[in-house]
Amino acid sequence: MKSILVCTNHRANPNQPSCAARGALELKERLTDAVNATGLAIGVKEIQCLGECDAGPNLRLIPGGTSFQHVDATKIPLILKAAKSFLKD
Ligand code: FES
Repeated sequence: MKSILVCTNHRANPNQPSCAARGALELKERLTDAVNATGLAIGVKEIQCLGECDAGPNLRLIPGGTSFQHVDATKIPLILKAAKSFLKD
């Protein structure tokens, strides 16, 4: 199933960047609610690192889709639009 992977990694050391420390858990919940509200047939899943920790919160459409960095709730409409297009591919 095509999915949106949201990095929700949390690092205990505050000197190391992590997506959870930048609001990724709340973002994942809001994105899940938005996907459910639209009825898009795409999953929203957590992953523990996408390898771009300095640019978080990060997410990626899988398999083989677009990556998004510095994501906050204001970008949810953009992500939904990309997900709709991704589902048609
Ligand atoms: S902590 Fe999110 S990409 Fe590494």
